[in-house]
Amino acid sequence: MALTPLAPLSLNGRGGSRAERQVWTPPLPLRERGQGGEGQAQPMLNWLIQSTTDLPALPAEAWLSPPEQARLATLQVAKRRREWLLGRWTAKRLVQAHLVAAGLREPALAALEITPAPDGSPQLGAVAQADDPVLGAALRTLRLTISHSGERAFCALAPAQTLIGADIENVAPHSAAFVGDYFTPDEQALVAAAPPVLRDTLVTALWSAKEAVLKALRLGLTVDTRLVECRVSPPATGDGSEHWMPVLARCNPALAAPTSMYCWWRRLDTAVLTLAAAPA
Ligand SMILES: CC(C)(COP(=O)(O)OP(=O)(O)OC[C@H]1O[C@@H](n2cnc3c(N)ncnc32)[C@H](O)[C@@H]1OP(=O)(O)O)[C@@H](O)C(=O)NCCC(=O)NCCS
Repeated sequence: MALTPLAPLSLNGRGGSRAERQVWTPPLPLRERGQGGEGQAQPMLNWLIQSTTDLPALPAEAWLSPPEQARLATLQVAKRRREWLLGRWTAKRLVQAHLVAAGLREPALAALEITPAPDGSPQLGAVAQADDPVLGAALRTLRLTISHSGERAFCALAPAQTLIGADIENVAPHSAAFVGDYFTPDEQALVAAAPPVLRDTLVTALWSAKEAVLKALRLGLTVDTRLVECRVSPPATGDGSEHWMPVLARCNPALAAPTSMYCWWRRLDTAVLTLAAAPA
């Protein structure tokens, strides 16, 4: 599959190191510049990372809507409960910050409701009792994606007319069999050519980028991951890859999806973050 370079990134976000968390650039409006990528518009994405230490010791009813509290009660496995809670916390804080930066009143966290669609993707809305048409209308203009890994959650927001997928993965070794089973021949060649010291980061970044694209398409891992082909620039050593870098991401026509997606990746200490987006 031929891969075409896409536009440079337009991302606003915060998370990771303490210093980074203090930087919050107000979101810019959606950019409608058809720059490369087969004339696709370039969306502005906002993202946030939180860790378990950011999660306050509040009772669930202080910040979860009644349906969310009911969902939490069904989660029996401690790890899943922790990840679910941190994902909701991160998503709600991101939405709050976005609305305030857009000049709207800060909503109560319990007034925001994130429910799973039948495919598992998160749907953002206002709780029925909020009785706030401005909030409801503002939330309908947004699309949300959630990812969690270990002690961290990574969420991103985009305009509702944008497909958006985010993924966070801790860098880990993956076997040759994993690469052979889930990666395309070109991706396998990329991995084979990587210096051994960078292999784990590269494989994790490729896998994460595929997940981000498949989450943006709301398919998740229900399809063959080789139907999405990604190419990430080999990670630099040291700090070189701790900023967003473009990924070339191409969808096989069998997916009935945009043929190419905007996609980015970066390192964040022990983890890889990826974001994928395309006009809906
Ligand atoms: C969805 C999937 C890609 C998640 O990958 P993961 O690395 O395990 O987990 P992540 O933390 O990165 O992402 C999980 C989040 O993805 C979101 N998600 C789930 N299904 C999704 C989908 N089809 N499209 C987009 N996002 C989805 C959810 O917000 C979920 O978090 P939450 O359940 O706490 O709200 C993967 O679990 C999958 O595809 N599984 C098979 C399909 C499936 O079981 N879907 C659930 C149906 S209810």
